[in-house]
Amino acid sequence: MTAIINTELDSSRRFAQVTWTGGGSVACNVLWLRDNCPSGGDKRSGFRTFSVGELDPNLELERAEATDAGACLEVSFSDGHVSHFDATWLHARLQPAAPLQLRTWRSSAALPRHQFEDTLQDEGHLSLLHDIAQWGAAVVSDVPLTVDGTEALAARFGHVRETDFGRLFDIMSEPDVWTMSQSTNAMDPHTDDPFRYNPSGASLLHCIDASPTGGGASTLVDGFEVAATIRREHPQAFELLTSVSVPFIRYRSDSVDQGDAVNMQAHAPVIRLDRDGDVCGIRFHERSMGSLDLDPDLTDRYYRALIVFTKLIRDREFQWTHRLQPGEALMFDNQRVLHGRTGFDGDPGRRHLRLCTVDRDQFHSKLRRLAEDLGRGGHDRKLPAGNLS
Ligand SMILES: [Fe+2]
Repeated sequence: MTAIINTELDSSRRFAQVTWTGGGSVACNVLWLRDNCPSGGDKRSGFRTFSVGELDPNLELERAEATDAGACLEVSFSDGHVSHFDATWLHARLQPAAPLQLRTWRSSAALPRHQFEDTLQDEGHLSLLHDIAQWGAAVVSDVPLTVDGTEALAARFGHVRETDFGRLFDIMSEPDVWTMSQSTNAMDPHTDDPFRYNPSGASLLHCIDASPTGGGASTLVDGFEVAATIRREHPQAFELLTSVSVPFIRYRSDSVDQGDAVNMQAHAPVIRLDRDGDVCGIRFHERSMGSLDLDPDLTDRYYRALIVFTKLIRDREFQWTHRLQPGEALMFDNQRVLHGRTGFDGDPGRRHLRLCTVDRDQFHSKLRRLAEDLGRGGHDRKLPAGNLS
C-alpha cells in the first residue's frame, strides 16, 4: 500500500507537495485536486456529477494533510469544500506506471507462437495479446480452416471491422486483378489501409492453402525497430518522417465483388510520436502514397528521408520471413508491423489467405481488461496508440 509521509503547501497556495513512503514526491495542483475529488463521481466510468465549469480558476488550498496513518490525503479549499483522497488511488494517477516494455526485432527474431486452442482460455488469451502488444506480432497454429475459425481467432482481438473490402477478405491470385494482393507478385512491406483516417489496428492473416509450388512467404518488418534505427543513424530523416504529414489515397471508380467504389484520402506522418516523444505508430504503403504536396524545398528533403525509410524496410536484415502453412495465422499490430510477401508461381486459386481486421482500441481494451481481471497488474501501462491522421 502506498502512504503519504509529508504534505506541504507552496506560498501561492495553488500546489500541495505530497511525498510518498516509497520515495518520490509530486506537486498537486489545486484545480486538479478539486476536479478529481471523489465526491464528484468516477472519472474512469464517466459517471460524473462535477463539471470544471463550476471551478473558480482562482481557487486556493487552505490545508492539505495526511490522515489515517498516511492512507488518506485530506484537502480543504478556499470555497469551503473538503476532499478525501485515497493515497494509493492518488499515487496511481499522479505517478503513472512505466510503459509496457516493447521488444523490437529484425530478421532472425523468434516471434512468439501460440496454439489456437490455448487462446480460447483466459490465460492463453492474455498471453497472446500481451505478446502482440510487446512484439507487435505472433504466429498462431492449428486454427480451424473454416470462416468460423478465422472469426473465432479475430475475436481474440475484438469485434471484426467491416470495411469496403467486406468483413473478411480472401487473398487469392485471380486472373482479373483489381487489388495488388490478388496478383502473384512480391509485395514490399507495408501497413494496410494508410488511406483511412483510422487504419486497421490489429490484423490477422489466416492461411487456408499455401502455394503448392513454393514462394508466397509472408514477410514482417518491425516498424519500431526501423524507426529506432533511423532515429539513431539518420536524425534529420527521423525529424521529417515524424513531423511532415504526407498523402495516402485509394481511388476506385467502380464497384467490384469485394470492394466498393471509393475515394479515400488521409494525410499523416509515416512515423508517429506520442506526447512523450516515443514512437507509437507507423503508416506506410508505397502503393497507396499520393503525389507529395509539399513546398519544393521540403519535397527534396522529404524524398531523401523517404528513401532512407524505404531502403530499410526492403532490407532483408529487417525482414522476418515465414511461409505460412494451412491452419497457421499471423496476428499483428498493423500500426507498428509492416507485412509483405515474396512472389509465387501462378496457380490461380491455390494460395489462399483470409484477412480480417479489428480496431486498435478493441485489442488494447481486451488486453487491459484481461490483465486486470486475472490480477496480473500492469493494466494501466502506456501502450503505443498507433498512427491516426
Ligand atoms: Fe496488405
